[in-house]
This record gives sequence, structure tokens and C-alpha cells, in this order.
Amino acid sequence: MKAIEIQGLTKKFGKLTAVDNLDLEIEEGDSFGFLGPNGAGKTTTIKMLIGLLRPTRGTVRIWGHDMFAEGKEVKKSFGFVPDFYSFYESLTAFENLEFFAALSGIPKGERGKRILELLEVFSLEERANSKVGDFSHGMKQRLVIAQALLPHPNLLILDEPTLGLDPRGQFEIRELIKSISQEGVTTFISSHLLVEVEDMCNKVGIINSGRLIRVNSIENLKSEIEAPTGIEVRIECEEVTPEIIAVVKEVEGVRDSGVEGKTIWARVESSDITPTLTTCIVTSGGRIRKVEEHSPSLEEVFLKLTEREGGQG
Ligand SMILES: Nc1ncnc2c1ncn2[C@@H]1O[C@H](COP(=O)(O)OP(=O)(O)OP(=O)(O)O)[C@@H](O)[C@H]1O
Ligand SMILES: [Mg+2]
Repeated sequence: MKAIEIQGLTKKFGKLTAVDNLDLEIEEGDSFGFLGPNGAGKTTTIKMLIGLLRPTRGTVRIWGHDMFAEGKEVKKSFGFVPDFYSFYESLTAFENLEFFAALSGIPKGERGKRILELLEVFSLEERANSKVGDFSHGMKQRLVIAQALLPHPNLLILDEPTLGLDPRGQFEIRELIKSISQEGVTTFISSHLLVEVEDMCNKVGIINSGRLIRVNSIENLKSEIEAPTGIEVRIECEEVTPEIIAVVKEVEGVRDSGVEGKTIWARVESSDITPTLTTCIVTSGGRIRKVEEHSPSLEEVFLKLTEREGGQG
């Protein structure tokens, strides 16, 4: 079953086309990374996806139901984590969740148990009775995800869930989202952090200037870009002499090269070039300690794709 079907989705703000004719399908069980630089149109897409903003054109279906024709029912079928949080700062974590649980129609008798269960998962049980106003950003961010999960949604849509968190906080949120997906919840996560998408998602869509320029599995996306970009060979030597630097530059198939400490790196067309490189280094008197080949990271793929299209934000 399709969790999300988006067709021809377009949003114009005056002359600006913030989202341009976007088509996208998310399967049940997918963990989808919606990747794009600032101003790419991620939040605008998400707002239409969850029925907060009317599209200029196009349709959105969630679990087969049209968002704008059957909005009321559809809105109960997913959880949403916005790129900001709004809690009652003078109420406790428990009270905030209780308020939201009531709003989402969770029967009174079930609320307390569900809230305590989630506070425990999110390591907030000891702070259940503290005022949210005293929480750190990381704690509030965990609380906002817990809130979205209260009604047991089978689809969770998150807009930049790790924004503004320190590395530890980012790691914790990623681990939580991964465990949520492993439990079978379909996730849609917007991000401009590549490592994050690589870590959490099985599928990625890259949006730039309102246009969805790629949708693929992470694996396929990497190999698609590998051929034109080539690979990087890193060779650690006992010492990198000017002779070695010069000889590496001259090897056929080397597009670019450089030195980092005792490592000489070369960007080459394919790994067929690596033996030639090592031979040349050895014949120039070099002693090799380690040879490594690096395929492009998703980060490189992303930078390359978004650089071609130019930016509008
Ligand atoms: N209400 C609005 N009125 C006019 N322009 C808007 C409005 N909302 C968004 N935009 C414009 O639409 C474009 C896309 O914005 P959007 O917030 O969707 O980007 P984003 O990918 O979420 O960026 P970020 O990573 O910074 O959150 C931007 O150029 C933005 O200025
Ligand atoms: Mg945004």
C-alpha cells in the first residue's frame, strides 16, 4: 500500500514557484529522506502534504485518501513533527502530552499509560512533572516527537527533526527515529543534513529550487553518480616527497590530486588506475603504508546535484 502519493504538486507565492510540479510516491514501510538546501521547498511541500497549505495545483493522497477532499479523516492517519515546537511552557511534560492526547481523541482511560510509555522511550520519565519551560532544546525536541506518536500513527512526517541540536542530541533523535521505523512506522523526514539521511533512510528524494531532481534508493543514487565523479584513492606513505606528488599528477586517468599530511590522494576514473598509482609511487622511492578507495558519499552526490541546478533560496 502507498503511504503517500503526490501528483503534480505545485505552490506559487506570487511570482515564486516554491514547489514545482512534484510527483512522489512513498511505500508503506519506507523511510524516506527529503533532502534539499535552505529554501528548496521542503517545508512548503510538507505543509501541503499534511493539509496546512492549499496547493496551487496537484493532489496529495495519504493511505489512499485525498488530503483536501477527505481531510478530516486523513489528518488522523499520520503524526507530524513541525520544524518548531509550541508547548505550554508553564505546564509539565505530562500535562502537555495529556492535553494533546485529549485533542487527538485518545480515550481518557488510555492516556496516562500511553504518555508514561512514551516519556520512558524518550528518556523523559524523570522529567514528567517538570515544567516544559525549563527543558533544554534537545528535551523539547524529544517531547515533540513523543507527542506526534501519542495516537500510534503508522506514518510519521518530520520537518528537520535535528535542527539546532548538538551532535549528541542529533544522534539521539536519529536513533529514536530509526527505532520508530524499525517498528514498522513509515517515516518521511526532511533534512539538509546528508549524513542523517544516509543513516536513517532507505530512500531519498532531492529537491532543489522547488523541483524534485532525484528519487532513488541511497545505493542506486551513489552508483549513478559514481561513474561521472570517479573514485578517490588515498595512499598513505612513510613520506610524501615532491617527486611522488609530481608523478601521481602525471598518471593517466588522474583528474585531481593532493596531499594531506602523509597521505596522497587522487581522484581517478575507476579503481583500475590504483595499481598504476602505487607502482609509480614505489618506483619514485615511496614506501606505502596503506591504500584506500573511497566512493562518493551522499554528501558529494547531493552537492553535485544541487550545484547543477542553482539555488533560489
Ligand atoms: N508564505 C510564503 N510566502 C512567500 N514565500 C514563501 C512562503 N513560504 C515559503 N516561501 C518561499 O518558498 C521557498 C521555499 O521555502 P521553504 O520554507 O519551503 O524551504 P525549505 O526547503 O523548507 O528551506 P529551509 O531548509 O530553510 O527550511 C523559499 O524561497 C521561501 O522564501
Ligand atoms: Mg524548512
